[in-house]
Amino acid sequence: MYLPLEHKAAIVTGGASGIGYSIVKGLARAGASVIIADMNEQGAEAAEALVQEGLNVTFVQGDITLSADAQRIASKAVEHLGGLDILVNNAGIYPRSMMQDTTEELWDRVMSINLKGVFLMCQAAVPWLKKRGGGAIINMSSSHAAIGSPELFAYAVSKGGISTLTRNLAGALTRDRIRVNAINPGWVATEREIEVRALDGQTYEWLVERGKMLPLGRLQTGEDSAGVAVFLASDHASQITGQIIQIDGGNEVS
Ligand SMILES: NC(=O)c1ccc[n+]([C@@H]2O[C@H](COP(=O)([O-])OP(=O)(O)OC[C@H]3O[C@@H](n4cnc5c(N)ncnc54)[C@H](O)[C@@H]3O)[C@@H](O)[C@H]2O)c1
Repeated sequence: MYLPLEHKAAIVTGGASGIGYSIVKGLARAGASVIIADMNEQGAEAAEALVQEGLNVTFVQGDITLSADAQRIASKAVEHLGGLDILVNNAGIYPRSMMQDTTEELWDRVMSINLKGVFLMCQAAVPWLKKRGGGAIINMSSSHAAIGSPELFAYAVSKGGISTLTRNLAGALTRDRIRVNAINPGWVATEREIEVRALDGQTYEWLVERGKMLPLGRLQTGEDSAGVAVFLASDHASQITGQIIQIDGGNEVS
């Protein structure tokens, strides 16, 4: 069987649930050994389920907003997997709040997890990627990075920062053969998204119906993101860096 990520070692932050867990499965089934880095201890069970499938997946608990944890996650990955080739910065939160209702505390929390955490993980991982002679970083952005999203004010700004970070770091790391790209997953009905929408009285069924109105006729799935992440992590994407890939069912172009 062709395994595009055979012998590759990867970290997926926020890999215990939702889109991150789909990406963990995608990378591991493509042959990679994967560390789930998540603050939620449910990551242990998530990893175990994949070990039962014969995949090489390990859980490391940590909070990416703390530089000591980011460094520890990267070192544990190297200790456990023998090196590091792929970093997927997926952990993120998306509390709904207009600008006037956004408290300083909420702003700081969103920026800390969605933006500072990505910076700290890149800082911790890059020396190890360099030691391998190259690698791939994939950041989770959002379509909200590029459009006005008044009800997701801090979130949209943080994801705009991810787009800038991605292009900036891509340029800085070309000579090290480290490719840095981002994916924008559109609209995915993860458990968290369903919970957040429920606060506005919007049900799962409402979400699915809204999905049918998208140009390509459905909501996106975690597997849609996983497929693109596997591609970007693989040698098939060896000439692709600094790009932001929309996985939005044609929303942007219609
Ligand atoms: N669901 C969507 O429609 C959608 C759309 C576009 C982008 N995204 C982005 O995709 C990513 C995942 O979203 P999801 O819907 O799967 O959410 P999710 O809540 O299911 O997953 C996020 C994971 O990140 C972990 N996490 C949060 N803070 C952390 C921290 N400080 N340290 C370590 N781990 C932490 C959580 O424990 C959780 O397991 C986020 O970055 C989100 O912004 C989601």
